[in-house]
Amino acid sequence: MTARVISCAVLLGISMVPAIAGPTEGKEVYDSKCKACHGATGQGNPGLAKMLKVEMRPLGSKDVQAASDADLKKIVAEGKGKMKPISGLSAKQVDDVVAFVRTLK
Ligand code: HEC
Repeated sequence: MTARVISCAVLLGISMVPAIAGPTEGKEVYDSKCKACHGATGQGNPGLAKMLKVEMRPLGSKDVQAASDADLKKIVAEGKGKMKPISGLSAKQVDDVVAFVRTLK
């Protein structure tokens, strides 16, 4: 009985995972700042693309994923082509949203 309690405590100790910055927080940022234009899965909003007369490449596509994290952060901060800079994000939120974009591939 005692042995069982101890091994249980050991298991709990091992399963404590350090907090990882990234995709989970990034999804919240994405949902509030990017989703309206890029869609829930990054495929792009066809109506918006048509209105802006621009081709929106899916964020999960090879071409977009080939960009470095620094490139993606720059796009968020400075915009690209018809995309305007996204304001109101902390540096960490930008890191997080880039981590989320990486999950779309
Ligand atoms: C108001 C609409 C809008 C919002 C909001 C928006 N985007 Fe964009 N985004 C665009 C459009 C339109 C393009 C295509 C620009 C072009 O090619 O001229 C684009 C392009 C991009 C690209 C480059 C894709 C490529 O083809 O290389 C990335 C990466 C990107 N957006 C990420 C984001 C992220 C991350 C967010 C949220 C933090 C975001 N966008 C918010 C409209 C938006």
